[in-house]
Amino acid sequence: MRRKLAAGNWKMNGLRAGLSEMEALAQRHPDPRVDILLCPPATLIAPAAQALSGSRIALGGQDCHAETSGAYTGDLSAGMLLDAGAGAVILGHSERRALHRETSEEVRVKARTAQAAGLTTVICLGESAFQREATNTLDIIGAQLSLSVPDGSTGVNLVVAYEPVWAIGSGKTPTPGEIGEVHTFIRARLESRFGPGVGRSVRLLYGGSVKGDNAAEIFAIPDVDGALVGGASLTAADFSPIVEALE
Ligand code: G3P
Repeated sequence: MRRKLAAGNWKMNGLRAGLSEMEALAQRHPDPRVDILLCPPATLIAPAAQALSGSRIALGGQDCHAETSGAYTGDLSAGMLLDAGAGAVILGHSERRALHRETSEEVRVKARTAQAAGLTTVICLGESAFQREATNTLDIIGAQLSLSVPDGSTGVNLVVAYEPVWAIGSGKTPTPGEIGEVHTFIRARLESRFGPGVGRSVRLLYGGSVKGDNAAEIFAIPDVDGALVGGASLTAADFSPIVEALE
């Protein structure tokens, strides 16, 4: 039985004042029936770990380097995220793929390093609007999935997030049928690559304009085990209804 997961990606938003939103979320969900993961900017991980100690909210980073240490100015290693209090890291988000030219191969190497360090990797996949119109979405997702996910992945160290690029921050969402088609496809691919045991234990998140008012409909889709939420994860008032819809 896969445990549901409500994950928030704060992207480049949040100062220390934002810790109060995390504390408010923890107060609203002292004993959640689902997993809650917040991925704030790296500067907030250590203070958030302190502010949330004793709560059931886990923390994650938004990227890490493929190497464990060295001359990589401005980068962060998986070990640093762990040391700051993170238990997970988002990798291959479409904003990093587009703005930092990250390839699926690079995502896979980062994921291997992060998993070896003990982090759960939330690996993001998603087609652009152009790709959805011009080609077969499942071909795009299938290629990203096989190239981005490292061998040795398990239901513990891997979460896959399907985030259509055109749905991110746009207020547009795919139909339930479109989301279901992609999630069923990802599940089948994971089962055939890793075997049914591992394949069925990996959690699949949907991401892209998830809000309190569409969360229940999205969570009713088979093989949707939760959400990776951007804008609506920044305040307890917006994120809490999404957590509740998952419970
Ligand atoms: O990683 C989450 C994200 O890209 C979705 O963002 O703001 O559409 O929920 P948003």
